[in-house]
Amino acid sequence: MALETRNFETLALHGGSYRTDPATGAVAVPIYQTTSFQFENTDHASRLFALEQLGPIYTRIGNPTQQAFEDRLAALEGGAAALAVASGQTASAFAIFNIAQAGDNIVSSTDLYGGTWTLLSQTLKQFGIEVRFVDPVDPENFRRATDARTRAYFGETLPNPKLNVFPIKEVADIGRSLGVPLILDNTASPLIARPFEHGAAVVVYSTTKYIGGHGTAIGGAIVDGGNFDWAAHADRFPLLNKPDEAYHGAIWTEAAKPLGPIAYILRARVKLLRDLGASIAPQNAFQFIQGLETLPLRIRQHNENAVKVANFLAKHPSVSNVIFPGLQTGENRRRADAYLKGGFGGLVGFELKGGRRSGPAVHRRAETVLSRRQYRRRPFASHSSGIDDASAAYSGRAARSRRDPPATSVCRSASSIPTTSWPISARRWRRPTRASARPRETFHLN
Ligand SMILES: Cc1ncc(COP(=O)(O)O)c(C=O)c1O
Repeated sequence: MALETRNFETLALHGGSYRTDPATGAVAVPIYQTTSFQFENTDHASRLFALEQLGPIYTRIGNPTQQAFEDRLAALEGGAAALAVASGQTASAFAIFNIAQAGDNIVSSTDLYGGTWTLLSQTLKQFGIEVRFVDPVDPENFRRATDARTRAYFGETLPNPKLNVFPIKEVADIGRSLGVPLILDNTASPLIARPFEHGAAVVVYSTTKYIGGHGTAIGGAIVDGGNFDWAAHADRFPLLNKPDEAYHGAIWTEAAKPLGPIAYILRARVKLLRDLGASIAPQNAFQFIQGLETLPLRIRQHNENAVKVANFLAKHPSVSNVIFPGLQTGENRRRADAYLKGGFGGLVGFELKGGRRSGPAVHRRAETVLSRRQYRRRPFASHSSGIDDASAAYSGRAARSRRDPPATSVCRSASSIPTTSWPISARRWRRPTRASARPRETFHLN
């Protein structure tokens, strides 16, 4: 039975259907480290395969540990159901593959994480899916790029490094007037942004980041808002409304009716996970359940820390520009205030005087800026590719864009730290000898 609460702390601990393990009474969700599940009899097996009864069959398609994580995440997000997958990249790819095929197109924001940019601009092309990139500064750009073969709009709520909040309601409203769902990557703003409340139809996450919270597991999730009428736009969504030959002629909008408004996520599970794999490991699902338990606390702290970091950097003589929603003005600030509640997230970008040509010298200055005086011998912020976990990390655009295709640097044009890739973390570390040398205050640049 669903919990009658919108309290994040309660939902993070108790959301979803899991109470105790039916087999043992275990209070914590057990890790079901098994590939397969025994059928009670042949009738039971055929009911499961015919989707007349939902239950675990094979871990590539579902697993009780995974389900506890999915149910809790869906409850926290205010969605109808969720599907956990192997990574954030899989979540974005599946979210699109679930409704688009060769000859179709999607319209995407230009402000994207670099990996998503290459997925959309290069890899989807291989599958015959065109992606039309538009600048979200003007939401009407989405309408202008739409035609009869447009299957979705795609964007990121809080895209790194520009940190310009996506115009969620504006684009969702345009989409709904044309029968096009908005898929939003909410990785950088769980809990503080509530995309379904503003009309998004599907939310995707890299759970690798804030949701995991400790930088120890790669994973992703798709949450179905259950708020988009796929059957009302049958011509636009043949994959959900026409008989599916690969599943005994099932029509997903019909098949899902007894189960709730979950046609979209049901198809993603039983078609995409079944055929393409990329399922989440039970051990990782368990770690994401642990992460969810402290997510509200951590997000609150990230929000607070980021404000301190942004203000500190804004006054620093080596910093030429700070990128942070709380320091924006004009329309960007209006969007930040409209869509981020309780804080501006944990991401802060900044540019150093001297630019990328300054190379190692600038890098040393970045180290100094992040580390403050008492930390110089042992910088606490790691220069790494992972962001949004409990420790501080930073990454520089110039270091990455050497490897990324040229297009990527377009979407990263407001770079975080123009520096190069010399590792600076944890070298020349010496234990602080005096009490005064120990950290008094911790800043997270996540
Ligand atoms: C916003 C965003 N979406 C998706 C991804 C991809 O996630 P993963 O690394 O879990 O595949 C990332 C990774 O950095 C990201 O920052």
